[in-house]
Amino acid sequence: MGEEVTYRVGIPVLGLRGENLGRLEKVLFTESRHQVTGLVVRSLESLHIVPLEKVTSVSGTEIRTHLTPNDLHQSPVFDPTQYEEVPPWFFPPGHHIELGALVTIKPLDVREQGEESAVSRRAFMGKSVALLASAIGISLLVPIGGYIMAAATTPVTDNWRDLGVKLQDLPLDEPVQRSFRAVSVSGWMRVPEDRSVWLIRHSGASDPWSEPEDQKKNLDSPLEEGHADPRLTVLSPICPHLGCEPQWHKGQKLFICPCHHSIYQLNGKVIGGPAPRPMDQLPVRISPDGSIAVIYEQFAIGIAAKVRLA
Ligand code: FES
Repeated sequence: MGEEVTYRVGIPVLGLRGENLGRLEKVLFTESRHQVTGLVVRSLESLHIVPLEKVTSVSGTEIRTHLTPNDLHQSPVFDPTQYEEVPPWFFPPGHHIELGALVTIKPLDVREQGEESAVSRRAFMGKSVALLASAIGISLLVPIGGYIMAAATTPVTDNWRDLGVKLQDLPLDEPVQRSFRAVSVSGWMRVPEDRSVWLIRHSGASDPWSEPEDQKKNLDSPLEEGHADPRLTVLSPICPHLGCEPQWHKGQKLFICPCHHSIYQLNGKVIGGPAPRPMDQLPVRISPDGSIAVIYEQFAIGIAAKVRLA
């Protein structure tokens, strides 16, 4: 690869035979910011790390690699908790990250040996804060019409989304999919997006929660602590295997994922297929009048642990 490389987040990443493997999501750097170590590629909602040695060329419109789709699925899953994100203007000399990119720096303790001395994290973060402060003025000039529209049409208090439905209006033991408008935060950008969740109102406190220990394991998001309600379960629509959307099959009373046939019970427990964990449960809050609010969270897919994405 040449000295001067431009990465544009969102461009297609192609495989060995030109097949589309996914889209560039992030660029990974060593802490000194002088060396790119890998690319994070989003494929079917999962994020995988592609080492730089697998990349054959980068152009303004695409990235070519030596990988096959199977290689990509076997490559490491990107765990955002292991990295620190910095704004795109902190790109290293010779590497250009276009606006909208999220640059991710490899932590100090896993920095490659032999790399030239790294700037200290504290000094770096100091500069980040100063630059961020100056950028705030500029960012206020950026058109944010979509965000304003979303904020105007979505009742949002903190991260809670009022779903516009009441508990008493939901059927018992029959999942209902509810859509809403959310704002996803990417760096300093806030992008309105359509989201949905599954709502399951339970007929009894112990049904269908017949295996409370399994459910407890699924309640490992800090936000869920104190925000679970025995009357209602809220499940993410994203399959924890590779990110497709399981559908409720009324006749079989099961969620079945159309991509690789993972099968889940009403409570989200996996009973078949390759899914590594239950469907992800989301925090819920029910007001005295029955109004339902949720916090929409996303989690890393393809792994057994429920790791919340930043
Ligand atoms: S994405 Fe593979 S089973 Fe759902």
